[in-house]
Amino acid sequence: MNSSHNLHSPDLQDKIRQLEEQVEDFENLNAALETIWSAAGVEEVLKCIVEAVMQVCRAGQCSIVLVGGEDEGEARTLIRAREAGEEMLDKFLHDLLVGWVCHHRMPLLTDALAEIFGKANIKGKYAGIASALSFPLISEEKITGVINLISGDPARKFGERELRLMRILASQCAQFIRNARLQEELFDETRRLKKEVLDKYALYGIIGRSPEMQAVFSLLERVIPTDVQVLLEGESGTGKERIARAIHYNGPRQAEPFVALDCGALPASLLESELFGYVKGAFTGAQKDRKGLFEEAHGGTLFMDEIANMPSEIQAKFLRAIQEGEIRPLGTSQMRKVDVRIIAAVSGNLQERVEAGKFRQDLFYRLNVVRITLPPLRKREEDITLLADHFLRTMNEKYHKRIKGFNAEIIPLLEAYPWPGNVRELEHAVERALVLCDGEQLSRKDFSFLEPTPAGSDAVSAALPSPALQDAITAFKKQYIEQVLKQTGGNQKKAAEMLNIQRTYLNRLIKELGVGE
Ligand SMILES: Nc1ncnc2c1ncn2[C@@H]1O[C@H](COP(=O)(O)OP(=O)(O)OP(=O)(O)O)[C@@H](O)[C@H]1O
Ligand SMILES: [Mg+2]
Repeated sequence: MNSSHNLHSPDLQDKIRQLEEQVEDFENLNAALETIWSAAGVEEVLKCIVEAVMQVCRAGQCSIVLVGGEDEGEARTLIRAREAGEEMLDKFLHDLLVGWVCHHRMPLLTDALAEIFGKANIKGKYAGIASALSFPLISEEKITGVINLISGDPARKFGERELRLMRILASQCAQFIRNARLQEELFDETRRLKKEVLDKYALYGIIGRSPEMQAVFSLLERVIPTDVQVLLEGESGTGKERIARAIHYNGPRQAEPFVALDCGALPASLLESELFGYVKGAFTGAQKDRKGLFEEAHGGTLFMDEIANMPSEIQAKFLRAIQEGEIRPLGTSQMRKVDVRIIAAVSGNLQERVEAGKFRQDLFYRLNVVRITLPPLRKREEDITLLADHFLRTMNEKYHKRIKGFNAEIIPLLEAYPWPGNVRELEHAVERALVLCDGEQLSRKDFSFLEPTPAGSDAVSAALPSPALQDAITAFKKQYIEQVLKQTGGNQKKAAEMLNIQRTYLNRLIKELGVGE
């Protein structure tokens, strides 16, 4: 016998054909598993599995039934697919197949359903089933599901080949399903927790879902139940005072007073008597004793706004007061005990003030126990519509109006606008628009300040060659402030009102941006 004779033997030819088929099967199997790999979520994983199984096993119809889980043992069909023809994998047949597989804990492969389940059960449309294969999905030794395949074509009956393929597929699929389920549970849990936090802060009147605000919320979660000093940093109108109030009114001191003081608003001598109080006769005009804000806030919170502006002669006395928990009113040598939580706010950068020698370093360290930085609104675009909707609701209530919402064309404009006055500016913009609006929806004409004026568009186009958005925003701000100042004849107070920002902030912007230079 020579080898060429062997090669042509029908036996060997058969073997080769079989091997080639197996290689092809495994290639298909691999491709199928790869698609399932890339599916996300239980539903999609199941869909991919059904499709893969149909294709690899050349089945006419296929379904997956998950058992156990939430439904407490009740089987449920999750997904099915079929090539053509009437749906035969109905609830009744599922119950039979799944029941059999779960009971015997092994695959069912048959060309004669009626012999297994009885003629009385298998009649009518089931008679068209030429072959059936039901395979258990096993995960951690428990049957978690069953994959059912049927073929209506007598020429395509399932056999050893399909059993072999399903043995590989099923064990993989059980893992895929298990992972997808775990992932979904985890995802649901994270989503639930996230929503809980967002809802909670919405209840405090703090709206935001941007990652930046979520980071703020997670800091607040840790700070609120404690007594720790907090330093709030953020541009004008970013919500520093609102957050300070939320900290106080949800923390352990909520039943005690919340007292706010703008450190930049008063000259040094007045600020001192405001803070520490005085006794009768301390100075001309001191006709009776007066408690200072430290004492007013006793047991509660003292909110020191714009603390960077605190005159240096007060800083030492203030530091002593918070370090020792004692104050001395003007005109007396007697110390008084005070128990006050300090929340301080700055609209600039306090550290820079320290470096410039304008703010005591020791006081900075004392205040800067936990620093919360509130991002400007232009850096959290996804909060803009959320806030706009929120203000629309509150303003509708305030003015007894029923404006339904924002015209779609206005949303991108609101999102693109740089909001130099941040949330406060947005709040006022919505308020003004709502008061003036006579339609059902707020539209472009209600936000006239968003319309680019010739000067405004010049500012933008002049900044265009620069790739940095920040430069464009700065140029826009400068030009915009110049324009408003022109309108008010250089009156900064009026201009600040029109811009809906504080005068101190306007003043800073004028210096920083070199307005009018
Ligand atoms: N996240 C927010 N959700 C809802 N309202 C907000 C939010 N942030 C700010 N506001 C509202 O915007 C306005 C300005 O906020 P707030 O006075 O707290 O800002 P600020 O940082 O203290 O500003 P300034 O530095 O100018 O004093 C307030 O009416 C406040 O209620
Ligand atoms: Mg403020």
